[in-house]
Amino acid sequence: MKKTVIIYASTHHGNTRKLIEAISEKYQIDIIDAIEQKFANLSEYDLIGFASGIDFGKFYDAVEQFLKDNLPENKAVFFMYTCARDDKDFTYTMRTEALKRNAILMGKYGCRGYNTYGVWKVIGGMNKHHPTKKELDGAVKFYEALIE
Ligand SMILES: Cc1cc2nc3c(=O)[nH]c(=O)nc-3n(C[C@H](O)[C@H](O)[C@H](O)COP(=O)(O)O)c2cc1C
Repeated sequence: MKKTVIIYASTHHGNTRKLIEAISEKYQIDIIDAIEQKFANLSEYDLIGFASGIDFGKFYDAVEQFLKDNLPENKAVFFMYTCARDDKDFTYTMRTEALKRNAILMGKYGCRGYNTYGVWKVIGGMNKHHPTKKELDGAVKFYEALIE
């Protein structure tokens, strides 16, 4: 079994955290909240995931900073996110930073998440029931494919 850690931030509504919980219900993984913990030795891990809500087109600063400060060279890396609309390449900056450390990019999984930013708050938010059960199952399947 591959030793896995997922580093995440999920400050808006805990949407992204739900993806990680779905995986951790089935598989033994380590989880680091990048808001609370800024540094860790990741050298022992075979697989390193970074997960985040999306803030103006990119991963939250805490997750990006964690990668910059802690990702060792030559690691297998994957990305997960929840967003308002899954219509852009939200992982660009993370991928670029990971590649500077010779990472092996294993892929990404994204889906919609409940969003009450700005005007959406007034009308009860968008994507109210996301991530859905199907989207959570999709996250688990994505992870399964990585460890096969
Ligand atoms: C300040 C702010 C900026 C956001 N910017 C984007 C964005 O650029 N694109 C997008 O698709 N969603 C955007 N969203 C929506 C969140 O990424 C989405 O609700 C996500 O599921 C939140 O994840 P979390 O609950 O794990 O923090 C934004 C939300 C907030 C609060």
